[in-house]
Amino acid sequence: MTNHSIELAPSILAADPMNFMKEIQDAENCGADLHHFDVMDGHFVPNLTYGLPLVAKFKKVAKIPLDVHIMIQNPDEMAIKYVEAGADVLVFHVEAARHHHMLATSIRNAGGRPGVAINPGTSLSNLDAILEDLEVVNVMTVNPGFGGQKFITSSLRKIESLANLIAKRGLSVVIQVDGGVNVETVASIRNAGATRLVAGTAFYGAEDRMQAAKMLRG
Ligand code: DX5
Ligand code: ZN
Repeated sequence: MTNHSIELAPSILAADPMNFMKEIQDAENCGADLHHFDVMDGHFVPNLTYGLPLVAKFKKVAKIPLDVHIMIQNPDEMAIKYVEAGADVLVFHVEAARHHHMLATSIRNAGGRPGVAINPGTSLSNLDAILEDLEVVNVMTVNPGFGGQKFITSSLRKIESLANLIAKRGLSVVIQVDGGVNVETVASIRNAGATRLVAGTAFYGAEDRMQAAKMLRG
C-alpha cells in the first residue's frame, strides 16, 4: 500500500554534477517532494561541496522546495544568507550553532522554515529547548560529510524517542532521516517514525529511479 504521508527528498550530492539541471528535473518527475542540498565547508565536516551561488541557481529552476542542509562551522553568521539565496527549509547543525533559538527565529523571520540536524553522537536532549521552534529535525543516521555510507542502526532508537517526544508535546515537527536510507533500511526507518526521507545513493544511484522513489516511500 502506498503511504503518501512519507515525503522524499533526493540528495543532489549523489546526482551527476555535470548534469544538475537534468538530474533535478528527473527527481521532480519521479515525484520528489524537496531537493536536499548538502552544503559542506571543509571545517565542520572534512568534505567540501558548494555554497550560496549554486543554491541561488537551483532556486531559479527548481519546481519543488529546496531543503538546504548546512554542514558548516558558522551557521549563526551564514544561515540567513542561504535563506535569502533561496533555501525554503534551512537545516543547521545543533553542534555548530551558538544561539539556537535566535537562529531558528531569524530563519522564520527571513521567510524560511527552520530545521536542526543532529549527529549520531549527539544526545536528543540538545533539542529539548528548541523543538517547539522547528519545522524539521534532520536525524543524521551516518556521520555527516559523505554520501554512500552505512546506516547506523542504533539511530533507530533515537528516531523512536524523538517521535515519542514530538507526540507527547503535541507538536507537528517533521522527522527527516538523512544517511544510508535504502531498500534494506527504509522499512525500519519508517517504522521508527520518520516522515521524510533523504536519499542520495538510493535515489540518484538507482537504475530505475521511479521504482526507487516508489519503494522508498513504501
Ligand atoms: C551526508 C549528507 C547526506 C547524504 C546522504 O553528510 O548529509 O544528505 O547526501 O547520502 P546517502 O543517501 O547516499 O547516504
Ligand atoms: Zn544532508
